[in-house]
Amino acid sequence: MGSLSRAECESLDNRDPLGRIADEFPPGEPGWLYFDANSIGAMPIGAHRAMSRITDEWRRLRRRGWSDADWLDAPVRLGNKLAPVLGAEPGSVVVCDSTSINLYKALRMAMTMRPERENIVAESGAFPTDLYVAESAARDQIQGGSLVRVEEAKALAESIDRDTAVVLVTHTDYRTSYRHDLASLVRRAHTQDALVVCDASHSAGAVEVGLAAAGVDFAVGCGYKYLCGGPGAPAWLYVAPRHQAQAESVIQGWMGHAQPMAMDPHYTPAPGAKRHLAGTPPVAGNALMEAALDLWRDIEPQAAFAKHKALSDLLIRVIEELPAPRPMLVAPRDPARRGGFVSFRHREAEIYVRALETGKIVASYRAPDIVRFGVSPLYHRYVDVWTLGERLRSLHPERTQ
Ligand SMILES: Cc1ncc(COP(=O)(O)O)c(C=O)c1O
Repeated sequence: MGSLSRAECESLDNRDPLGRIADEFPPGEPGWLYFDANSIGAMPIGAHRAMSRITDEWRRLRRRGWSDADWLDAPVRLGNKLAPVLGAEPGSVVVCDSTSINLYKALRMAMTMRPERENIVAESGAFPTDLYVAESAARDQIQGGSLVRVEEAKALAESIDRDTAVVLVTHTDYRTSYRHDLASLVRRAHTQDALVVCDASHSAGAVEVGLAAAGVDFAVGCGYKYLCGGPGAPAWLYVAPRHQAQAESVIQGWMGHAQPMAMDPHYTPAPGAKRHLAGTPPVAGNALMEAALDLWRDIEPQAAFAKHKALSDLLIRVIEELPAPRPMLVAPRDPARRGGFVSFRHREAEIYVRALETGKIVASYRAPDIVRFGVSPLYHRYVDVWTLGERLRSLHPERTQ
């Protein structure tokens, strides 16, 4: 299999139905190639308009912004815009808080629905905040609970038993990009009457998550990665419609009240996922997030996932065609098992990532030996991957090994 030429990549870009979406992202620093969508996605041009709208509303409306502008509705409105990207039902997603906070809420809701059980089962290699939060959510079970850490991602399903209240699954591993088969994990959990909470931070906006089809109970994820919501963007929380009536609000804040402005001294939960909101929404952050979610208005999610697969396959090919010694593929070759980024093993990964920056390439490093290239179906072009290959070839082997 020979390398794709620049002309072939340009031709793929010209035929790409998402090509016009890439035009919605202004270039970063001249000459730099950013493959860090797994960390912080690019800024859509609509972010400028969104910020100037919000600052204008603030200047003109002040207190009236809460009633005359659409600030208060944003968490639910944005959730509905995001739902198709996650394969979620309308009304099942709210955009709010951080992933860590939403994860605590999801885990506690689920634990409360299994009061007689004690354990949360999770992979020991899960993202650290997930493990910390899971420990605290288990500790807060009435009779005291435990976090059971499973060494191997693939052994997660076998570790579910009748003591398991909740399985916490990281849909895509933050180092290997291994993507779980959610449907089969959920089936196994449900046969043991356990619930599934999923962190899809490294999948959402890049690859298929399919929350409804898989039957996931609760899910969370970051807004600032592939979803391009900007630095510190609000996160999202999914509650399956079948749980919405009985899933209790973990933090009974006024924004989750059925009538927040009635100033009722007693809490009555809002219907649906809205009850899981707690405090005042971050209006400016939501506006940036909405500018990014609006890009999905005209995108067929499956077309975006197909483009992501094609770009990732091409990236693997480009790296595997580098002269030896080259980084070794860690991410699954099977696109159905691969998440948002492509990762490689390199014995001096940290130095390698720094060396890439001398060639104006932004990738990311995870200890001890992982190099990640985060791919976005929204703004990466095939020719970007071709350029990456050319640059890497000029850096190999002298400066990077
Ligand atoms: C898989 C995963 N979960 C959670 C987080 C943290 O999310 P937050 O800082 O919004 O709590 C990250 C951050 O990179 C992550 O990669």
